[in-house]
Amino acid sequence: MKPLFAATLAITAFGALADDSALIAETKKTALAIPPKLLQMLQEEIDKGDYHGAIAACNDKAPKMAATASQNTGWAIRRVSLKNRNPKAVPDAWERAALEDFDRRRATGEPGATLEKAEIVSEGEKRVLRYMKALPTQGLCLNCHGAEDKLAPAVKVRLTELYPNDKATGYSEGQIRGALTVKRPL
Ligand code: HEC
Repeated sequence: MKPLFAATLAITAFGALADDSALIAETKKTALAIPPKLLQMLQEEIDKGDYHGAIAACNDKAPKMAATASQNTGWAIRRVSLKNRNPKAVPDAWERAALEDFDRRRATGEPGATLEKAEIVSEGEKRVLRYMKALPTQGLCLNCHGAEDKLAPAVKVRLTELYPNDKATGYSEGQIRGALTVKRPL
C-alpha cells in the first residue's frame, strides 16, 4: 500500500509541474512578442532623426501595446523600473525583488537579455502566474536613458515637459533599464 501511495503522489506532483511549465511557456510567448515590436518602432523613428516621434513611440505606443495585449489576454501586462520615468511604472514588492535580483545577476556578468523570472503565487484565494523579463539598455536606448549631459537638447526639453520627476537617465549600455511584467490570473 505504501509504495503505491508514494507513486501516486509523485505522479500528481509531476503533473502539476508539467501544467505549470506549459502555462509559463505560453505566457512567455505572448509577452516576449512585445519588446521586439517596440524596438523596431523606436529604431524607425530614430533612423528618421525624429526624436519627437521616438519619444511618442515610448510615451504613447508602448503603453498602448501593453494595454492591447492586456485586453486580448485578460492578463495585466506593463513595464516597470526601479528608476521609473512614467510615474505609474513603479514595481510592486514581487517585481522589486525580481528587479533587484536582475541587477545583482547582471553585476556578476550574466547577460541582461537572458534574465527572467516566472513564479506561480497565491494572492488570497487566487493563484496568479507572475512573469518578468529584463529589458537591458542597448546603444539606442541611451538617446533617452543615457547620461543627462549627453542627451540631445530637444530630447531633454521634451522629457522634462512630459516627466518632471523622471528618474530614468544616467544608464550605460547593458544595464537593466527595467522589465516587462505580466500578471496572469489562473
Ligand atoms: C526616444 C526616447 C526613448 C528611447 C530611445 C528609449 N526610451 Fe524607454 N522610455 C522613454 C519614455 C518617454 C518612457 C516613458 C513611457 C511612458 O510614459 O510609459 C520610457 C519608458 C521606458 C520603460 C518603462 C519604465 C519607466 O521608466 O517608465 C522601460 C523599461 C524602458 N523605457 C526601456 C527602454 C529600453 C530598454 C530602450 C532601448 C531598447 C528604451 N527604453 C529606449 C523614452 C525612450
